[in-house]
Amino acid sequence: MKTAEKLLVRALKGETLDRPPIWLMRQAGRYLPEYRALRTKAGSFLDLCYNPDFAVEVTLQPIRRFGFDAAILFSDILVVPHALGMDLRFEEGRGPLLDALQGDADLARLAMDQFHNKLRPVYSAVSGIRATIPAETALIGFAGAPWTVASYMIEGGSSRDFAKTKAWAYQRPDSFQRLTNLLVEATATYLIAQIEAGAEVLQLFDSWAGALDHASVLRWSLAPMKAIVDRVRMSHPEVPVIVFPRACGAGYLDFARSSFMHGLGLDSGVPLDWAFTQLQGRIALQGNLDPQLLVAGGGAMRDAATKILDVLGHGPFIFNLGHGIVPETPPEHVGELVEIVKAWRR
Ligand code: CP3
Repeated sequence: MKTAEKLLVRALKGETLDRPPIWLMRQAGRYLPEYRALRTKAGSFLDLCYNPDFAVEVTLQPIRRFGFDAAILFSDILVVPHALGMDLRFEEGRGPLLDALQGDADLARLAMDQFHNKLRPVYSAVSGIRATIPAETALIGFAGAPWTVASYMIEGGSSRDFAKTKAWAYQRPDSFQRLTNLLVEATATYLIAQIEAGAEVLQLFDSWAGALDHASVLRWSLAPMKAIVDRVRMSHPEVPVIVFPRACGAGYLDFARSSFMHGLGLDSGVPLDWAFTQLQGRIALQGNLDPQLLVAGGGAMRDAATKILDVLGHGPFIFNLGHGIVPETPPEHVGELVEIVKAWRR
C-alpha cells in the first residue's frame, strides 16, 4: 500500500522522495481573484469560514489552479477563541480584533460547552473537501499553537511587542498556565474532530514563537504543542503532525531533538546547511522560501527555490514558504514555483 500513500504523508513518515511535495501556507487567499470574488459574495471573512460550501470552494481554488500536493482547510486559528466564547471580528486593513482578556475573571468565563457546536461548520467543510479533492491530494487540518492564540486573546489583536501577553506570562505564570492548559485541551479536541471529519495531516502554527526567549520557547511553545500532539496521538497515532515554531532560531534544535512531531516547519531565516546537518537527520523538514521572493519572481525566485531543493531535497522534505503568501503575490509566480518543484529530481 505504501506507494498508494500521498506524497505529503510519505515525506512526513521519513521517506526521501524523487521530488518533494509542495503546498504553500496561505495558498488560499487574497492574491487569487477567484478568492476575492467569493469573499465579496460571502460578505465577510468569517462568513467564508463558517459557511461549509464557501470554505470548501475556497480551499479547492488553489488546488485547481496550481495542482498543489496538499490542500489546507480554509479557516483561521482564531475560530478556537471564538468557539470558547470570545467575540471575534475582522476589519478591513486592521486584521483580527477580539475583546481582550483582562484577567482571571475573563479567563473563567471561557468555556467548552458550546465549542463543538460552534465549530460544526468547520468539520462539515473538512468532510466536504475530503469528498471532492483529487485522490492524490492530501488534506491538512490545522490550529494555532497556544502561545500564538493566547497572544491574540490577551492583546485583542495583532501585536508588535506582545507586552501584555508577556507581562501576564512573566508576572502570573500560574494563571498563564491555566489559559495554556485550556487551549491545549480545546485545540487537541478540535484537531481530533478534524481528523474524524477527514483531515489526513495536521499543522500547528506557532507564528509568534520567535518573540519568546529560549527558556520561554521551551515552556510556552514547545511544551504545550507537545501536550497537544501527545493527546492527538493517543487516539490517532497514524496521523502525522507538522509543527511550525516560526523564527525560534536555535530553538529549532530542541524541537528536532524532542521529535514528538513528524515534520518541522522552517522560517526563511533558518540557514539551509544548518538545517541539513543539524535537523534533517532527526525529522522531516518543511519550508522555507521567503514569501517576498514569490512576489519578486524571476531569477531570484528560481535560484532560491533551486538552492532549497538541492540542499534539503535529498532527505525527507516538503517544499513550502517560510511564512504565508502575501496578498501582493502574482499568481503566475506561484504557478512557476510549482513547476520548478515538480520538475526537480534528486
Ligand atoms: O493557509 C491557508 O490557505 C488556510 C487558511 C488560513 C488563514 N489563516 C486564512 C486567512 C490559515 C492557515 C490561517 C492561519 C493564521 N491566521 C495564522 C497563522 C499563520 C500565519 O500567517 O502566521 C495567524 C497568525 C492568523 C490570524 C490572522 N488571520 C491574521 C493576523 C489575519 C489578518 C492578516 C491577513 O493576512 O489578512 C487573518 C486573516 C486571514 N486569515 C485572511 C485569510 C485568507 C485574510 C482575510 C481576508 O481579508 O480575506
